[in-house]
Amino acid sequence: MSFYSTDSSILQTITSEQLNQLNVRLMVKRDDLIDEEVSGNKWRKLKFNIEHAQFFQKEGILTFGGAYSNHLIATAAACALVGLKSIGIVRGEELTAASNHNLKRCEELGMQLIFIPRSDYDLRNEKEIIETWKAHYPNYYLVPEGGANFNGMVGCQEIWKELPPTIQHVFVAQGTTTTSCGILLGMPENCLLHVVPVLKGFDVLSTMKQQLFTFLLDHEAVEELLQKVVVHDAHHFGGYGKKTSELETFISKCKEEFDLPLDFVYTGKAFKALVDWLESRGDCMGEEVLFLHTGGLKNG
Ligand SMILES: Cc1ncc(COP(=O)(O)O)c(C=O)c1O
Repeated sequence: MSFYSTDSSILQTITSEQLNQLNVRLMVKRDDLIDEEVSGNKWRKLKFNIEHAQFFQKEGILTFGGAYSNHLIATAAACALVGLKSIGIVRGEELTAASNHNLKRCEELGMQLIFIPRSDYDLRNEKEIIETWKAHYPNYYLVPEGGANFNGMVGCQEIWKELPPTIQHVFVAQGTTTTSCGILLGMPENCLLHVVPVLKGFDVLSTMKQQLFTFLLDHEAVEELLQKVVVHDAHHFGGYGKKTSELETFISKCKEEFDLPLDFVYTGKAFKALVDWLESRGDCMGEEVLFLHTGGLKNG
């Protein structure tokens, strides 16, 4: 994998008797297949962050994550691939690299892991704390948890270069909102963005507002864009990392029926929201619907 390649991931068309009856054209953008470790939206969110670090001749990237963070592994793997160093600030001072497979793999990939107390980790986005890390590691480019910055959004916006402009609905799982904000920024006029937050009680619109403002610097433009967002906030299945037997059955069925692997933390919930939405609509009048597979298959 090269960060300079323009290779796109494949677009899988999903067919079934039920979809025929609903009169809908359903496609899945298989970003999960981009790379095993720099998978899905991680690849898109890291692309310009890596390029930024290289352009400014930084030694590496310093970033943040929890013990099971997909973003930490992806950062470690991407940096290793392009010859940059990486530092991961990990939530939980009691942990070590041996605590789980994720952290072990980060270390194998050359990431220096720094374990900090949860109370300190919770302050990670405070200006003063960011400045302290920067002062400690001046030769590292600091990327927030989940790749949630301007470069992350720009990388996700690029997905439209690889998609037909005729798509009318896009569905995506939401954590930090970086991926969905990027998609929204590049979206064609007659398209709606359906977001599925995996956190219970997450304030989608105000988080997106904040993110989009860092890009557009125009409150009116942000408000206009947000009118194209449909929030599906009843598909968290109990909250982050939680699952039910209904969700597990649904995930197994998708693998069997459509050859579509999904994880239970992000993509399983988002795809379930899509299917429920389709079923609630009845005749979809031949509309084109896209599901963005954001990866995360190591989540099981
Ligand atoms: C597999 C997967 N899908 C979706 C998301 C949500 O993306 P974002 O944090 O950009 O909203 C994440 C988190 O990065 C993820 O790991």
